[in-house]
Amino acid sequence: MKYVYLVLLSGLIVSCNKKSDDKEPVEGKWIKGDETEQVEIIEDHFQGFGKAMWEVSYRFKELYVAGENENWGYAEHHVHEMEEAIELGLERRPEHTEAASQFLTVSIPEINKAIEENNKVLFDEKYEAMRQSCNACHVMRDHEYIKVKTPTEYYSIVGKAD
Ligand code: HEC
Repeated sequence: MKYVYLVLLSGLIVSCNKKSDDKEPVEGKWIKGDETEQVEIIEDHFQGFGKAMWEVSYRFKELYVAGENENWGYAEHHVHEMEEAIELGLERRPEHTEAASQFLTVSIPEINKAIEENNKVLFDEKYEAMRQSCNACHVMRDHEYIKVKTPTEYYSIVGKAD
């Protein structure tokens, strides 16, 4: 009887091991190859810093409208998400870390202060400082042709808070 249990148990162990060896491809069977190749495919699809910038430029425009509408909750939301997008972008492309330093340690805290104080005059000033910080980084990273402007005619689907 003991022997039967032993056989059953070893069978179970073998089938468990087998399961972890030939992993099923995750949903969307396009992520193929061995583990390294799969990670490379996923990395490619995450993309580099440009992806972060796509998000950052959208949020920078929304931030403008949020400030103009004095919707401070919405403004705070975008600064927070923008910071996160840049930090994740830097994890993917650490070579930009030094150039992002002024933006992360000065521009973001300063505009946050204006938002916390619900101070529209200060917000406009810090928004302009942030815009200059975006462009300074583009110059540092050899993308000086990406000149961020103040979005004077930008339409947002989100309006005033009340
Ligand atoms: C680390 C410094 C850095 C900061 C800070 C920065 N950028 Fe960029 N930005 C880059 C780099 C590098 C690229 C090119 C990325 C690539 O495609 O590899 C870029 C690309 C862009 C692009 C082109 C994206 C596309 O469509 O391919 C836009 C738009 C942009 N940035 C807007 C902004 C705005 C707006 C800010 C400020 C709110 C900002 N950036 C702050 C470094 C920075």
